[in-house]
Amino acid sequence: MAIQWFPGHMTRAKRQIQDKLKLIDIAIELLDARVPISSRNPMIDEILQGKPRLIILNKSDLADPVMNEQWKQYFENEGHTVAIVDSNTGTRVNEIPILTKQILKAKIDRQIAKGMNPRANRGLIVGIPNVGKSTLINRLAGRNIAITGDKPGVTKGQQWIKAGGELELLDTPGILWPRFDDQIVGYRLAMTGAIREQILNIDEIGYYAIKTLAGRYWNTIAERYSLTIDPPKDLEDNEEIVRVMEEIGRKRGCLMSGNRVDLDKASGIILRDLRAAKLGRITLEAPFDDMPIREVKK
Ligand code: G4P
Repeated sequence: MAIQWFPGHMTRAKRQIQDKLKLIDIAIELLDARVPISSRNPMIDEILQGKPRLIILNKSDLADPVMNEQWKQYFENEGHTVAIVDSNTGTRVNEIPILTKQILKAKIDRQIAKGMNPRANRGLIVGIPNVGKSTLINRLAGRNIAITGDKPGVTKGQQWIKAGGELELLDTPGILWPRFDDQIVGYRLAMTGAIREQILNIDEIGYYAIKTLAGRYWNTIAERYSLTIDPPKDLEDNEEIVRVMEEIGRKRGCLMSGNRVDLDKASGIILRDLRAAKLGRITLEAPFDDMPIREVKK
């Protein structure tokens, strides 16, 4: 699914989330572990208005395990609590209610000290399209989807799902938009399949994929496509990257008349393999990358 975001949509999405913030104790921010910055909403701090937050590195099963830890550290250095999760199988999903409780401990303790009986912690899952929000909600709900709609302060039609460990979630997640001011972000989201490649040129996404993979995962692609050529010496050299794409295309029989390589076809193969994890567990951006992280102009 690719949503075309316009300023009006963004304002509405922001308002919808901010309305829900009044109902919840904690925001659960989902990021794609393969592209934690590119899958992050650029205005998230402003939108969440200081609400306690848990960051989830989702799809961790598709991402490089070493990089998962590095990214966890990166966000922890920013002062966040982080869980590394695979919502598809449910791996480490049970940490979410536990971490939520830890984050909200001071508040819960205050309520107890005042003689109050603390109610369940209420959370809202937020993230850009395709990051796995529905999958995680279903996973947390498990078999015991309990609808607890008629509570004070709950908008009519707003339903809560019991997520275990005294955590309740709003049944509809908050949908955020990704950053648009950076073409690299578009390529990275297209590489993961989060945005439809039709809106970008497939050979450009393939080019960018190879540029990224050749830097950090050369042995993986060399093995997958039986490459016998040397890795590019200079990743900024277009000709060297195209040379690798052509070699992959040749190995996979992506030829046009005149024995020229069909780079679109070669790109399609690379992207399909990447998304289906045929290249193994790959993370497409690293905390130490010189990645422009700019704010969207408000
Ligand atoms: P959304 O609500 O945020 O839009 O995302 P959704 O849950 O629909 O998940 C999008 C796709 O990501 C789904 O694949 C889902 O199975 C997959 N997914 C979610 N979490 C994980 C995870 O932790 N690991 C892996 N490997 N996949 C995950 P899909 O239904 O096949 O959709 P698509 O891939 O055809 O877009």
